[in-house]
Amino acid sequence: MKITDLPIPDQLKETIVKSGITELYPPQEEAIKAKVLEGKNLVLASPTASGKTLVAELCAFKHILENGGKVIYLTPLRALANEKFDEVRKYADTIEFHGRRISIGISTGDFDSTDYWLERYDLIVTTNEKADSLLRHRAKWIDTISLVVADEIHLLNDAERGPTLEIVLARLLQINPSTQILALSATISNVDEIAEWLRAESITTEWRPVTLKEGVLLNDEIQYKEGDSRKIEKKMKDSATNLILNTIKSGGQVLAFASTRKSAATLAKKFAGEIEKTLPKPLKRSLEHDAERILVADERTRISESLAELVRCGVAFHHAGLGGRHRRIIEDMFRQGKIKVLTATPTLAFGVNLPARTVLIHDYRRYEVGYGYYPISVLEYKQMAGRAGRPKYDKHGEAILLAKTADEADYLLESFILARPERIWSRLAVERIMRSHVLATIAADFACTEQGIHEFFSKTFYAHQYDIDAIKNIIAKILKYLYEQEMLEASGNSISATRLGKRVSELYIDPVSAVTIRDSLKCEPTRVTDLSFLHMIAHTPDMGPVLRPYAQELDEIAVQMEEHREEFFIDVPDEWEDRVTYEEFLGEVKTATVLNAWIEEKGEDEIIEHFRVQPGDLFKTVENAKWLLHATHELAPLFGNRKFLAQTLQLMERVEKGVKMELLSIAKLEGIGRVRGRVIFNAGYKTIEDLRHADLQNLVNLPLVGPRLARKIKEQVGGFVKKKTWEKLEKEDEWRQKVLAEF
Ligand SMILES: Nc1ncnc2c1ncn2[C@@H]1O[C@H](COP(=O)(O)OP(=O)(O)OP(=O)(O)O)[C@@H](O)[C@H]1O
Ligand SMILES: [Mg+2]
Repeated sequence: MKITDLPIPDQLKETIVKSGITELYPPQEEAIKAKVLEGKNLVLASPTASGKTLVAELCAFKHILENGGKVIYLTPLRALANEKFDEVRKYADTIEFHGRRISIGISTGDFDSTDYWLERYDLIVTTNEKADSLLRHRAKWIDTISLVVADEIHLLNDAERGPTLEIVLARLLQINPSTQILALSATISNVDEIAEWLRAESITTEWRPVTLKEGVLLNDEIQYKEGDSRKIEKKMKDSATNLILNTIKSGGQVLAFASTRKSAATLAKKFAGEIEKTLPKPLKRSLEHDAERILVADERTRISESLAELVRCGVAFHHAGLGGRHRRIIEDMFRQGKIKVLTATPTLAFGVNLPARTVLIHDYRRYEVGYGYYPISVLEYKQMAGRAGRPKYDKHGEAILLAKTADEADYLLESFILARPERIWSRLAVERIMRSHVLATIAADFACTEQGIHEFFSKTFYAHQYDIDAIKNIIAKILKYLYEQEMLEASGNSISATRLGKRVSELYIDPVSAVTIRDSLKCEPTRVTDLSFLHMIAHTPDMGPVLRPYAQELDEIAVQMEEHREEFFIDVPDEWEDRVTYEEFLGEVKTATVLNAWIEEKGEDEIIEHFRVQPGDLFKTVENAKWLLHATHELAPLFGNRKFLAQTLQLMERVEKGVKMELLSIAKLEGIGRVRGRVIFNAGYKTIEDLRHADLQNLVNLPLVGPRLARKIKEQVGGFVKKKTWEKLEKEDEWRQKVLAEF
């Protein structure tokens, strides 16, 4: 079926054809035949790279152009939301609608907001979590959504992300039962069950646009699924290295999945030496430049140094321990073909389009404390394998598992390559997870009686798979807790949320965190310091188990704890009575100490090394802390406590920027982080007023500043820059960039 023959507006056809797509892929054709363009609900389960996004795009834009509808596109990860947003932006640039351009928005941040500005967008790309938080605010524009696209819906099976997704879908359907649903999924064995739940048609296909050969590598020979085999030229002792060299020789790139961040980095190092030898000189020169870029993109740390070192060899690693900027640079470089081998943790397994001719699955096992090693699911294997051979980049792809013995090779072939992906199951029925959803159901007016709550939960995937009776007990237990904590109140049959309950729901925190904050604030310690608040928020469940102390560190933290004993809102537990709680407490003290070091402007590298945390974890802790301080600031007045309002607000801002108090006003300017802020401050520009009067050339000459930032600063503080001065500086900057590139 040709794009030009589709029953869609001409402008839409033109945009798609212009992007290089002229014919539909078979799964896309099937979706059209299932009347998805006429508003029918559909679950499309189709292999990786089979073009599921285009079906969503066709539906969405036809819907907008012909019915004036409003579309929400749900993704499980922020990174994926960004990628999808970039993909669909082309429509906004070209399509006119009632004399205006189509408008497309993205919303993934701040969970305590209605984002009323989203009202003016026709299509909104977002994450499941953000959508959940918007529903808690009952943003008005949500009622007008008429098409929901749920991408990667097989993640219903994910213990953390799955429940949010099913709640969001159940709520959207409750608000507007006639909303069209289009769910996109990998092939799984119970697609029909999901389709029944969503009252949708289902399509399952096995079609892929690019052939994907799956096989097992043993002693430099690949055994493929189809029974054929291929010998790999033996250059080195290590088979994986030989496979990689073979792919590069044929002009391809490799994506290698490892199970942990550490093994991703180790693997990259292992390959680097041999890959470097294959690089042509001009590429090497260009990689030198990129390595420098990595070093200046963020604060310089051991991790960024080792990443830069690898990039010089055409190799890199990618995992959640990297900062966002570094991740983006690495992804772009891989897309441009400059990085030949990228090692990654499974976070890169979902939905992304990368030019990997070969996917090497280095570890098929995961390790979990308490469980030991266990094999990954077939579903996860298929997702990783599916990153190989993406239509935009390659004509064929290969996904290879590594075996050490013939027995292991047989096992891998049977258990992954020839195996059917598992059924997926709802993960909703866990008290910790349901707690905030039960509260939100009342607080955001989705129900006003216990019966109503049951009715709402009976619309979830859980109730479809099991029985609502199975979770009635959990609901009753949660309700009792929420009454006791004064977040809900009852009058006769009807239940309503108190002001506190409403606010807790909107703040998107676990009710238990709110209780921790309330009870803590009641018992003021002898000395209230920044550390007091940082520890209090580290004590809430929403901080998560991010920073665990390691064994050799326990004594040092215990000493710290003793030194600051009189500053904690929460009593230090007895070491001998309850060892587990005591160690947990030490972990909280560690988290608080790390955050304290962060706002005291200790270098990122110093923090990372001293506390053995990774940049990604530091970032996550900072994000969580910012959020919980915001919650503390918002909730304290409801607990009748206004004493700490200024302190918690300032602390939140300092945590966000990672700076001392004195630096806050200039660190808030756009483009100035903690490091540049300190340079500027130490040069004598301590206030906005100082910057307004600063001589431009003097600012430009400061280390790490340069003309672009200097101008940006001046624009923000209202200082005047003559056009001539600016042009002169711009020329100098161009020249400097050129010299750097040649070098
Ligand atoms: N009809 C088509 N003709 C040519 N290319 C297409 C067509 N449809 C989609 N593509 C391209 O195929 C690539 C993969 O599509 P897409 O990202 O939608 O895959 P997917 O089915 O969502 O896979 P995954 O399960 O991995 O998310 C994209 O680069 C897209 O531009
Ligand atoms: Mg996809």
